Amino acid sequence: MTWQPKSWRDHPIQQVPEYPDQAKLSTVESKLAAMPPLVFAGEAQSLKRKLGEVAEGRAFLLQGGDCAESFAEFSADNIRDSFKIILQMAVVLTFGASMPIVKVGRVAGQFAKPRSSPMESIEGVELPSYRGDMINAMGFSAGERIPDPKRLLRVYEQSAATLNLLRAFAQGGLADLTKVHSWVTEFLEGTPEAEKFQELAGRIQESLDFMRACGITPETARPLAETELYTSHEALLLNYEEAMTRRDTITDEKDWYSTSAHMIWIGDRTRQPDGAHVEYMRGIGNPIGLKCGPSLDPDELVRLIETLNPDNVPGRLTLIARMGADKVHAGLPPLLKAVKASGASVVWCCDPMHGNTIKASSGYKTRRVGDVMAEVKGFFDAHDEVGTYPGGVHFEMTGQNVTECVGGVVEVTEARLGDRYHTHCDPRLNGAQALELAFLIADLLKQRRDGGIGLSEAV
Ligand code: PEP
Ligand code: CO
Repeated sequence: MTWQPKSWRDHPIQQVPEYPDQAKLSTVESKLAAMPPLVFAGEAQSLKRKLGEVAEGRAFLLQGGDCAESFAEFSADNIRDSFKIILQMAVVLTFGASMPIVKVGRVAGQFAKPRSSPMESIEGVELPSYRGDMINAMGFSAGERIPDPKRLLRVYEQSAATLNLLRAFAQGGLADLTKVHSWVTEFLEGTPEAEKFQELAGRIQESLDFMRACGITPETARPLAETELYTSHEALLLNYEEAMTRRDTITDEKDWYSTSAHMIWIGDRTRQPDGAHVEYMRGIGNPIGLKCGPSLDPDELVRLIETLNPDNVPGRLTLIARMGADKVHAGLPPLLKAVKASGASVVWCCDPMHGNTIKASSGYKTRRVGDVMAEVKGFFDAHDEVGTYPGGVHFEMTGQNVTECVGGVVEVTEARLGDRYHTHCDPRLNGAQALELAFLIADLLKQRRDGGIGLSEAV
């Protein structure tokens, strides 16, 4: 069947906002289609190759960032702190895995949210649900909840500015390994996680000093001086993705790419095999993700893989399992076995966030750090049982000192959730919680690798 950037429009679609002004929407879509791409197809191809290494068990994927980016939380400091926490986690994981860590942010485009209900009621008043800053506003008034097409342009602008800063940080010195001590953010200072990190940083510094004595420095070896952080988001608004879809004219492939991010994924609520989201995603050349929740049937997953990666290209498809700590043991092995039996090459990544959302008695949506870790452990166990490779982790987190998830070494209690609860959608790990999990996962990776002692005991 012939595919075009707009062919999704002939398929049934879930989770679309109802724009009252269709003419305004079309004008915005045309404006976006005339904008420069945010990323270049060659970069998406290079991420695909790196994920191919993950699929083959030679690298590990770290994907993470906000549940939902917002206009209100947009600032250079927030971008810098989230970047720093990703760098710290990546360093910790590199020690655990002893292999390259492929870093992908949920950033520079993660603004649209699927909702469990199209309407929200508060004290008898019913209004359309907030769907992310890309669509409407969070405030609970009729005007704020009307979908406004102009928000798509603002998302493009904020994504461009964010990406610009991330590229500067990645290549302009912040990611220089000789500056590893400075990655600890202000909020982390004094926490046990920061101390553990500084010990690790000290060991890295020693190795770098030794290498310098041998003539290898960031000036002579670029990988020491810079890093690559790729961008990703859920491709929920297909009109935005369509407008950002361009044919690659520079590399040899001449395929279509979404230039809104390096990688985009299909959410758990929009993965219907004959639906619009699968139709759009099958035609682009980017590396793509597919969220796999507990309701996904193994045979359906195999059919989805055939549609989304018919040429079985390693690195093209990342399956992001989000079962829940209580369901992962029973739910994941049947999926792993079916995919293994089909011979498909995929990256298996664990999202231990979305299956573990609970409501605290105070009414806040939260997640327990213990449940998050239990799901990661369950994910590793399931791969051990089936003989497949646990290729990565996917977190909702921020470098800020928020109180949105409960637990952790620097404990956030249920009673403190209200202190700094800033998320525009799901609860995120704060910097200390994210780093703590990275240490625990590094332990698991190290144990798998050599049966030796864990990293947190070693440092
Ligand atoms: C998300 O990643 O923010 C999300 C909504 O996830 P899922 O599709 O897995 O529910
Ligand atoms: Co979320």
